[in-house]
Amino acid sequence: MIRLRQAHRDDAASIAELHARSWRLAYQGLLSDAYLTRELDTDRLNDWTHRLNTPEKNQYVIVAESDEAPEGLIGFACAYGAFDEQAGTLLENLHAHPEYKKTGIGKLLLRHIAQWNAHHYPGKLLHLWVLTKNTPAIGFYRHMGAVQDAEALWDAPGGTQVPELRFTWYEPGKLL
Ligand SMILES: CC(C)(COP(=O)(O)OP(=O)(O)OC[C@H]1O[C@@H](n2cnc3c(N)ncnc32)[C@H](O)[C@@H]1OP(=O)(O)O)[C@@H](O)C(=O)NCCC(=O)NCCS
Repeated sequence: MIRLRQAHRDDAASIAELHARSWRLAYQGLLSDAYLTRELDTDRLNDWTHRLNTPEKNQYVIVAESDEAPEGLIGFACAYGAFDEQAGTLLENLHAHPEYKKTGIGKLLLRHIAQWNAHHYPGKLLHLWVLTKNTPAIGFYRHMGAVQDAEALWDAPGGTQVPELRFTWYEPGKLL
């Protein structure tokens, strides 16, 4: 059974490890090789240590665990409530462990974030940014009812600019 719980500061290393593992696979060829091979682990650890030690007031981080995977986390998500005037709450990160993809973890985390948003930021939309070439994730978001409504260039770690798309849930209540 999958369990969700709110992250605490001791989770920084575990989240950073899973984040790095996920990016190394999903972002191969999308972020610079130098960053992915040499800087990714330290960068993710610094990022999560900072986020969990000095959280923004509207930050919410949730982790997924399972008895079948006692060695660590099998997923995590991070959201910022009412981040954008129009597009509402930002789903900043959503990752299922690469070995447990398509087992329902992404959907469980997304629905939990939608519940949190409905409870703490009623009436706010939910949105995220995804790399234009991250085709599998885009397929998942479309399947879950999000609509692409903006595009931008991301100043990615490693010094490159990477095209990205915004997806918004205009009726986030349908995720509940
Ligand atoms: C994208 C991601 C979070 C999806 O999570 P997941 O646990 O693999 O997906 P789930 O098993 O929860 O899938 C839920 C539903 O979406 C569908 N789905 C999953 N991936 C899909 C895809 N690529 N295209 C279309 N539908 C998809 C599933 O079939 C399932 O459908 P159902 O509920 O109707 O049966 C996960 O694959 C991941 O971590 N990817 C790597 C990291 C990443 O790119 N994160 C997003 C950064 S913006």
